[in-house]
Amino acid sequence: MFEEGLRLKALHGADRVADLSIGNPDFPPPKLFREAFREAALADLPHAYMPNAGYPETRERVAQHLDRRGLLPGIGASHVVMTTGAAGAINVVLKTLLEPGDEVVVVKPYFLEYGFYIDNHGGRMVLADSRSDFELDAGAIERAVTPKTRAVLLNTPNNPSGRVYGESALREVAEVLTRASARYGRPILLLSDEPYREVVFDGVPFVSPATLYPNSVICYSWSKSFSLSGERIGYAAVNPRLETEDAELFLSALAMCNRLLGFVNAPAFLQHVIARAVDAVPDIAHYERKRARLLTALDRAGIETVRPDGTFYLFPKTPGDEADFVERLKQRLLLVVPGSAFGRSGHFRISFAAPDETVERACGILETLA
Ligand SMILES: Cc1ncc(COP(=O)(O)O)c(C=O)c1O
Repeated sequence: MFEEGLRLKALHGADRVADLSIGNPDFPPPKLFREAFREAALADLPHAYMPNAGYPETRERVAQHLDRRGLLPGIGASHVVMTTGAAGAINVVLKTLLEPGDEVVVVKPYFLEYGFYIDNHGGRMVLADSRSDFELDAGAIERAVTPKTRAVLLNTPNNPSGRVYGESALREVAEVLTRASARYGRPILLLSDEPYREVVFDGVPFVSPATLYPNSVICYSWSKSFSLSGERIGYAAVNPRLETEDAELFLSALAMCNRLLGFVNAPAFLQHVIARAVDAVPDIAHYERKRARLLTALDRAGIETVRPDGTFYLFPKTPGDEADFVERLKQRLLLVVPGSAFGRSGHFRISFAAPDETVERACGILETLA
């Protein structure tokens, strides 16, 4: 999609193409982050290799942040591994965890790259459906779990649906995993991929699945919340309540896998900056405005959609054939992603991590199409 957007812009002129395909926020990071960036650039700080898990000070600050926010109460620096984004974090956890043939349950619709990440480490992705409003369906997850299940990978707020999973649905999933772990005699790990955690609207409460299930790891990055996707900085944070005898081994294996996968360590400079700006609060008002504008345009176009509680995505139903509709939008120079790329055909994903003018142009195209 990235290359297709560039090609169309070169062909027709950048100001004529409405590229709402990629979730690639290009807005200024929060002020506190920019100040910390400047301060770190001028300070006499190390830029060399450090322990594989990252700088102790950065890990400490991340742990304090997670503890303060009640996301992983009681967590300390030793449970945090700094990584190259959430993608790095998920790959490090899967590399640490999986034996060939192990299964990882993923809920549809899902971030396309999960399948590749699981495959990277010899695992097999097993898909479970969500409800029609994209809420978790604990029954579907239970049916997907087998004796080979090593992990369940949840993503809330969800890319592409924008659904923020509710606490009661998450509790049901936690119960399913507790029962299945007892039945099969080994803990199933819950990976909570939550890079959109801060992008939540209308006061909808974000509940991290990790708060409800002890055998869990949070995978996070500042790519989305701080608009830093090209900088590659994130972490894996292990729940201190992990119920396994070899928790120490798991933690050192995570740090080792960070190195073995070739990441070596998360970028040193970004770790210095994050240590100073971990509590920065991103401004999401512009996303709220763009969501409202697109919801109006979709409504005018008679296109059905579930109102997203978070992220900067909409996942409407395609009127008619999915490929045909996405192609028709492309001919009008509006780029979106077909739902089948996320395991849910009959939909398309709109990313509104784009400038106001681009969103406005897209709305015009959708309304004309109606
Ligand atoms: C749900 C989800 N998880 C993980 C990632 C990867 O994040 P990062 O680029 O920070 O590694 C993305 C990126 O789009 C995502 O949408």
